[in-house]
Amino acid sequence: MTTTAPASYWEPLWAGGRRYRQLDGHEKRLMDKHLGPGRERPALDVGCGDGALARRLHHELGYRTTGIDCSPSAVALATAQDAGPGPGPVWRCADVTTDALEALPEPAYAVITCRLVYRWLDDKAAFLTRVRQLLAPGGTFWVVTEIAGRRKDTTPLQGLGISPAEAETLTSGWSSVRTADLDVLRCYALRP
Ligand SMILES: C[S@@+](CC[C@H](N)C(=O)[O-])C[C@H]1O[C@@H](n2cnc3c(N)ncnc32)[C@H](O)[C@@H]1O
Repeated sequence: MTTTAPASYWEPLWAGGRRYRQLDGHEKRLMDKHLGPGRERPALDVGCGDGALARRLHHELGYRTTGIDCSPSAVALATAQDAGPGPGPVWRCADVTTDALEALPEPAYAVITCRLVYRWLDDKAAFLTRVRQLLAPGGTFWVVTEIAGRRKDTTPLQGLGISPAEAETLTSGWSSVRTADLDVLRCYALRP
């Protein structure tokens, strides 16, 4: 959990040059397999950071993508990397747990993605309620998160993994739950 407002925690990290695990070929192939072609349908990347996943959804898979992040520096980085050709994703600086969902460009999304973010959200159940409100019927919620116990006992990064109870909260109440493992990470494709 973060003990401060999310933006207060994340903004100094992004502004100070902190960066996070890049998408690799294996993870990209899992996205392709579980999300499929966008065909101009709307997608939302929650906690988009510098926007790499949102750009992939938009430019390579063909979703009409919005990326939101609570850190102004992250959103500025994402915006600065839109090199075209053609319009890139829409970027918004917003807190997904507290800001009005009505302010988003679309009322519902065929795909919602959440990569390396779920572990940091204090009220996971409330977040999942918001995701369900935004997910279109038949849509997919794609979550990539570290799982507890995957690292060696001695690493100081042990705490990055979600607990079995947090995984249970994530996967409860969906009609379809598919998973794929990527070393310390697990990918979830959840359908209402
Ligand atoms: C570990 S980084 C991952 C960034 C990106 N998803 C990636 O995979 O590279 C977590 C991101 O979630 C964002 N974040 C955390 N809590 C948030 C919230 N409540 N609303 C919006 N963004 C949030 C942070 O600002 C940060 O950019």
